[in-house]
Amino acid sequence: MVPELAGRAHLQQIIPVTDAALQKAQISLPEIDAVAFTQSPGLIGSLLVGACFAKSLSLALAKPLIAVHHMQAHVLANLIPEEKPSFPFLCLTVSGGHTQIVQCNAPGNMEVIGETIDDAAGEAFDKTAKLLGLPYPGGPLIDRYAKEGNPFAYSFPEPQIPGLNFSFSGLKTAILYFLQNAGKSAIYKEIFTATEAEKKDFIQEHLADICASVQQRIVSILLNKLKKAADQTGIKQICIAGGVSANSGLRNAFTAMGIQNGWKTFIPPFEFCTDNAGMIAITAYYKFLENDFVSLDAVPSARSSWA
Ligand code: KG4
Ligand code: ZN
Repeated sequence: MVPELAGRAHLQQIIPVTDAALQKAQISLPEIDAVAFTQSPGLIGSLLVGACFAKSLSLALAKPLIAVHHMQAHVLANLIPEEKPSFPFLCLTVSGGHTQIVQCNAPGNMEVIGETIDDAAGEAFDKTAKLLGLPYPGGPLIDRYAKEGNPFAYSFPEPQIPGLNFSFSGLKTAILYFLQNAGKSAIYKEIFTATEAEKKDFIQEHLADICASVQQRIVSILLNKLKKAADQTGIKQICIAGGVSANSGLRNAFTAMGIQNGWKTFIPPFEFCTDNAGMIAITAYYKFLENDFVSLDAVPSARSSWA
């Protein structure tokens, strides 16, 4: 992702996308009740385009303006379907930039009780894919190849991080060494370094097994911590959200874990897992009910502490 290009693309797309959304919803601009925008976190160029456009619309239409936190919106995507979790619920939010366990007490009352201390789960998928020579974003491709592979063909380490926090940087290093040794056993590790051609052949021959094994480990890291959070809090309404919640291995294992532990589990519909405007709208809806509006001097920010 090139931030400058992403910002320019937003500028080109924002009017056509808005027109298309209005047409699909069969409403006109004066009929809308409020205008919402993503305030943080994200790429600043893209956030600025959205914020400026939303402010202009809000001013022109004399409608209230609502600022939405991107990660809170991922959590509240679980409130879009008719069957919703009741409060308080836990949400494992897993995206390209974040990995968090959130305790949600009300739409506007959330607390991060665990998060990654280095890479996000989505990054672990994308960086593995890069090492395997797959294009960005690699998560969906690893998911696809994993379906054909044996998840226990190779064993990658589970980091020992205390509490409810996550770490994925060790896994990335383990995969790098594994590929450098082209899958040779530990005994050979010190003496064997694969040539680029050997590495390529090895990856090509074992791609499905490698993807399945990496995916299995990422999923087990995520779900072991989620189980710990559920045990610690006693909360049994459990959700997942964010781009990585589109992963079929995670969805299946999460559902199975829910049955095993007597949880009521929720997964947003596929189209509300990766970044989408629906999750911003549902968050804005709950803020609207609370009259939680911002003025025209609200500024977007690339990074943000939890609002
Ligand atoms: O939430 P999202 O769309 O954007 C951010 O807020 O970051 O998440 C994007 C991330 C990427 O890392 C992408 O590889 C990952 O979600 N992703 C997946 C799958 N679909 C998207 N990872 C694993 N399996 C998938 N099916
Ligand atoms: Zn996101």
